[in-house]
Amino acid sequence: MSQRHSATIAARAGIAQDPAFGAVTPPLYLTSTYELKAFKQPGQYDYSRSNNPTRDLLGETLAELEGGAKGLVTNTGMSACLLALQLIGPDDTLVIPHDCYGGSYRLFFNLASRKRAFKLKVVNFQLEQWAEEVRAAKPAMIWLETPSNPLLQITDIQAVVALAKEFSAKVVVDNTFLSPVLQKPLDLGADIVVHSTTKFINGHSDIIGGALIAKEQSVGDELKWWANCLGVTAGAFDSYQTLRGLRTLLPRIKQHQHNAALVVDYLQQQPLVNKVYYPGLPDHPGHAIAKAQQFGFGSMLSFDLAADEALLPVFFSALKCFTLAQSLGGIESLICHPGSMTHASLDAATQKAAGIGPTLIRLSVGIEDAAELIADLAQGFAAVQQQSDPTAQASAAAAQGGQSTAGSDAQFRLNPAFTALW
Ligand SMILES: Cc1ncc(COP(=O)(O)O)c(C=O)c1O
Repeated sequence: MSQRHSATIAARAGIAQDPAFGAVTPPLYLTSTYELKAFKQPGQYDYSRSNNPTRDLLGETLAELEGGAKGLVTNTGMSACLLALQLIGPDDTLVIPHDCYGGSYRLFFNLASRKRAFKLKVVNFQLEQWAEEVRAAKPAMIWLETPSNPLLQITDIQAVVALAKEFSAKVVVDNTFLSPVLQKPLDLGADIVVHSTTKFINGHSDIIGGALIAKEQSVGDELKWWANCLGVTAGAFDSYQTLRGLRTLLPRIKQHQHNAALVVDYLQQQPLVNKVYYPGLPDHPGHAIAKAQQFGFGSMLSFDLAADEALLPVFFSALKCFTLAQSLGGIESLICHPGSMTHASLDAATQKAAGIGPTLIRLSVGIEDAAELIADLAQGFAAVQQQSDPTAQASAAAAQGGQSTAGSDAQFRLNPAFTALW
């Protein structure tokens, strides 16, 4: 296990290690192939689908950050998921959470139903009987996504790991929502971590990528073989970009989280919000577990708009700072409607079962000025208020903090529960 602090690991990834010219920043190796030293004498590298120095550097850095033996960098988050699934076969059962990312659900469901790649059991880990259901399924692999998307539900990783030991099941955790800065599943006993590096790891919304980190070297080696065989390894340029983004992971996460706490505080006082979903709130059902297994509550949150679904376009089009877009984890704030966007691949009944209502809105809180973000949301609520009750416009704008653009962060009360872990 690395003795270095995450901030140092991330900031110094590949710095001052260039033997050729002493470059402080590591070079980008765009080559697809490598010259042999002589006939039948290959060098360390032969072909970039198998190995590439830039990609390897990113993999090693992610492995050190997550506390694993081996880090593999893939071309998408989905291919990192696909890679992990190579460890199971047609006779095995994969347990997945009922509320995992829609794209992951689509992959698991179609591989199981159309390709018979494995048997699938969907479990709601929020219900008391989750352990009985998992035990009955005798899975070879258990997939977790905590916090979940988009309701930020928390699963107790250590409890699942303890159960998995009964039948030697591998536990895979999708750590995309938090990054190793806020959660280290391998330290909690998981076997594999997967990431969509498209999100917080890269942090700048300019590449699509993924990563898989294995706790054990042997598992990492087997999956490295599969990564080359399937051809899911990432390109050098994307790896370089991701390394560049990764270096500022800690300060970014700190600012994301600081802003998210202020936005949550504001939303809680907003009459046009029915419910805020954020693990940092003491009344969130997963608060205690999140506090125990995470190092912070993150910057993803959702809320139910207390207005008719027909007013959603009014709310979204009034926003100037939050961008209506899929994805998350970039430095810019994004807003999305999970029902019609990220989770559109789930049918209406599955959405309902997962608790995704028609007015659910998800925020990925960025690193802009928090007061301006809050003022932006206030504009959205004022527009909705005006449409539903035009006479109330003036009073609503005042009550909703529309004046806050000129103010500073300090005018928004910061709930100490959110900052406790920083
Ligand atoms: C939790 C989670 N896992 C995996 C993925 C897939 O990642 P990618 O889009 O990079 O393929 C996503 C994408 O949104 C995600 O949110």
